[in-house]
Amino acid sequence: RIPVIFDTDPGIDDALALALLARHPRFELLAVTTTFGNAPVETTTRNARGLTALYRQDIPVAAGAAGPLLDKRRRKDAAHVHGDDGLGGMAAGLPAPTRPLDPRPAHRLICDLVDARPGEITLVAVGPFTNLALALAHDPSIAGKVRRVIVMGGAFGLKGHAGNVTPVAEANIMADPEAADQVFTAPWPVTIVGLDVTQEAIMREADLAKLRGRGDGAGDLLWQATRHYQQFYDARDGIGGIYAHDASAAALLLVPEAFTLRAGPVRVALEGIATGQTIQDWRNEHGSGTPWSGHPSQQVCVAVDAPRVLALFDEIF
Ligand code: BDR
Ligand code: CA
Repeated sequence: RIPVIFDTDPGIDDALALALLARHPRFELLAVTTTFGNAPVETTTRNARGLTALYRQDIPVAAGAAGPLLDKRRRKDAAHVHGDDGLGGMAAGLPAPTRPLDPRPAHRLICDLVDARPGEITLVAVGPFTNLALALAHDPSIAGKVRRVIVMGGAFGLKGHAGNVTPVAEANIMADPEAADQVFTAPWPVTIVGLDVTQEAIMREADLAKLRGRGDGAGDLLWQATRHYQQFYDARDGIGGIYAHDASAAALLLVPEAFTLRAGPVRVALEGIATGQTIQDWRNEHGSGTPWSGHPSQQVCVAVDAPRVLALFDEIF
């Protein structure tokens, strides 16, 4: 089994990703850590606790960052996408948490768990990357002890996919660009699952309807929650469904052969009109003295076999 810590801002597509991590037998979900993002951190933490109870995971949940590392003005919720409660109005239907909130801040829980099992744990991060940056700042040695970091975030302008909060910036990056840049330039192996592939992984109305009546109430709640999310995407992009953004990051661990990766250092633009843009130097022909040189090569997803990803939901419900 793959030992995972899930860093998240639930969030409707976060809830779908958590379903995969919690219910697929190939994952060993160790903890859930929360961040601001789709809603304030108090809300995403309440949702994470209710969702772990819904999925029958008696694991630690720890609350993390309430805002970005530097520019607090960036904190902006996505109530128009995920609803005021972060779950399309369905948070009230979640079961009561089965255990108290972990007393540690998210980044401390991450450091403690990674320290206890060096070389084993994969971090799957699908909200702003503030908690990961705080973990690196608290104990830089964890970069050498984490097995792998998989993030949902970024937009690399492939196949006509642009940013979703500005023409070049994706939401998780824009919420804390400095944190994202620190995470991508740290000496740990990062795989970036950006909009270029997550916007190919469309769960259509018929895929979503299959969730109904399954998973002891979990499928019904997810289906209801996705009504709000689908309305947003139908109005914006007319896709007849939703993007499985965050679930794609979890899926990469289960079906790696469904993803095509490209190697090279990745930086985030930190000022000006391109703030939040993710840029990979994949041609490796620019020599020294660029913002990319001297930084570790990371993996960016450039293509996905979307049906392979979506089929995973049939394996958990
Ligand atoms: C990302 O932003 C959030 O709204 C989603 O949960 C996902 O993590 C997509 O840009
Ligand atoms: Ca998210």
